[in-house]
Amino acid sequence: MYRFSVELLVLLAVSSVFSIEVDTDLGRIRGANLTSRLGVPFHAFRGIRYAEPPLGNLRFVNPQPIKSWAPSTFDATEDGPMCPQPWDNMTDVSEDCLRLNVYTKDLKARRPVIVFIHPGGFYVFSGQSKYLAGPEHFMDRDCVLVALNYRLGSLGFLATGSKDAPGNAGMKDQVLALRWIQKHIHRFGGDPGSVTLVGYSAGSISVALHMVSPMSRGLFHRGICMSASPYGPVQYQNNDLRLAHRQAKLLNCSQESVTEMVECMRRKPYLDYVSTYNGMFEFGWNPTLNWKIVVEEDFGQERYLIESPFKTAKRGDFYKVPLITGITEFEFLSGAFFDLRNESIVSKYNQNWEDFAPIALILERNSTQTRTATRVLREKYMPESVDKLEYPKSLKGMGELYSDALIGVAYNRFLRLMAPHTPIYTYLFRYKGRYSFLKNPDNQEAMGPVHHDELLYLFHVGLVSPLFKREDPENFMIERLTRMWTEFAQKGDPHNKNDEYLKTLNWPLYNSQNQAYLEIGTNFTAKTGGFFQERYHIWDELYPLSSYS
Ligand SMILES: *[C@@H]1O[C@H](CO)[C@@H](O)[C@H](O)[C@H]1NC(C)=O
Ligand SMILES: *[C@@H]1O[C@H](CO)[C@@H](O)[C@H](O)[C@H]1NC(C)=O
Ligand SMILES: *[C@@H]1O[C@H](CO)[C@@H](O)[C@H](O)[C@H]1NC(C)=O
Ligand SMILES: *[C@@H]1O[C@H](CO)[C@@H](O)[C@H](O)[C@H]1NC(C)=O
Ligand SMILES: *[C@@H]1O[C@H](CO)[C@@H](O)[C@H](O)[C@H]1NC(C)=O
Ligand SMILES: *[C@@H]1O[C@H](CO)[C@@H](O)[C@H](O)[C@H]1NC(C)=O
Repeated sequence: MYRFSVELLVLLAVSSVFSIEVDTDLGRIRGANLTSRLGVPFHAFRGIRYAEPPLGNLRFVNPQPIKSWAPSTFDATEDGPMCPQPWDNMTDVSEDCLRLNVYTKDLKARRPVIVFIHPGGFYVFSGQSKYLAGPEHFMDRDCVLVALNYRLGSLGFLATGSKDAPGNAGMKDQVLALRWIQKHIHRFGGDPGSVTLVGYSAGSISVALHMVSPMSRGLFHRGICMSASPYGPVQYQNNDLRLAHRQAKLLNCSQESVTEMVECMRRKPYLDYVSTYNGMFEFGWNPTLNWKIVVEEDFGQERYLIESPFKTAKRGDFYKVPLITGITEFEFLSGAFFDLRNESIVSKYNQNWEDFAPIALILERNSTQTRTATRVLREKYMPESVDKLEYPKSLKGMGELYSDALIGVAYNRFLRLMAPHTPIYTYLFRYKGRYSFLKNPDNQEAMGPVHHDELLYLFHVGLVSPLFKREDPENFMIERLTRMWTEFAQKGDPHNKNDEYLKTLNWPLYNSQNQAYLEIGTNFTAKTGGFFQERYHIWDELYPLSSYS
């Protein structure tokens, strides 16, 4: 007993020195003191529950706000768990994952809030600090940073087109987190009247959707959409029963009645969802966007989407906020790289391109339009490989095709849909650093810049790089990107003539005449006339934006 109490005393002493506490309407929260990349102290409140754990009857449906935990103190000194997904260390994973992290330098200030919505195709990753969303870069700027988790995979996006699982649960989680921010962020020195959403990939799709969702109106004030948008080639549906049946089958749940099927799926442990992830995909990790956002019918639930985002955007009747959006030069070269180096996948393509390509390119399956499109796309993007695809000959064309199908076309349509209604800055990221999400396994060389690569400069991405130092060649990119994003978060404009890193920045707004963009490389250069225009034109002919409703 004596030993025990000494340890307890030491523990208490340690926690009172290194920790910090904040009172909120929900109860007290204890955080940790950490240090930014360049040595500035800040407070980190991690793993804060913003919703009731989405267990049992709360699976697949709208999340419920967290109840007060007073009088006890919520321990937010370390990362909470990530939502269920395959991971080496499953102690990091839990279904009780509706958490957010808040980082702040000054609890008494009123600073712009930057909310990071993580990537991962709606089925992997998290807002945790240790792997993807390390706050050390932004904490050298004057802002409050929030990184949130939302439900993933079938647990987040099961959509039966019925009351059992109306869909979009993961998006509603994000909305609930944004509501939490409106209520509580002032306690952390954040300004609820200045909230900027920064989303990457699936997170970027999310930000753009929050502009059209009736649930998200008024919860944010600016948006940064990096490398994806919800305006891809496929039309919206009101369910994804095909995928729901696939998941039910893998879980050994009968599929005869939807209600019984979903009840059975509610009883399965979350680890069964994790162990069946592989079976949810068709080949390799295709389709990369497997779980779908749907238009919800009214079953009495609060609905995230009430009509197709195309319809809302075209009508111009959406929540208009200033935007930054852009992509990287080589985006999904990574997908093409791994698929082309995989003999079983290449032979599938070579035997039956018209059936397999639409899966990887996320086009409507088994339609005449798609059959024509896949043939034309192959001729236009890979004229050298019309007879046979092979590595490395087909890599460039296939990389561009994957990039445009999954990211570029939707990005370009987003620009065109938004530009008439709201100020929009756009960029092409061309900087190739020493680290990349795509590493050639033959020689360990960083390729790119590919999908996710700008994140290395906005966040400490522990999965891919060390924490960069002031002397590192990446330093200027971190300084410039975090400064531009923070300026934009503050006032909707990335410029600041008085900032040593931004004084020469000239980033004109995009419009349909100038098609201006910023090329982000070693130099930051304003250009006009758009980029990849011939490539995007191919898609406009095959899938005219006018045909979407
Ligand atoms: C942690 O931050 C609080 C508030 O700024 C401060 O009172 C405390 O001394 C800090 N602890 C350490 C070890 O820096
Ligand atoms: C797994 O994660 C837990 C919690 O984050 C950590 O304590 C443990 O050391 C990790 N185990 C391994 C083998 O990395
Ligand atoms: C489903 O049933 C099969 C055959 O009995 C079994 O091998 C598999 O492990 C079960 N899967 C789950 C997730 O329970
Ligand atoms: C190639 O793809 C197949 C089918 O998707 C997969 O099972 C296999 O693991 C992949 N091979 C390699 C070496 O990645
Ligand atoms: C493809 O569509 C045709 C015509 O609509 C239909 O007969 C056929 O069953 C479909 N095939 C698949 C695999 O869905
Ligand atoms: C960047 O700009 C400087 C000065 O204009 C020029 O000398 C240099 O060649 C440019 N670098 C690149 C990579 O374009």
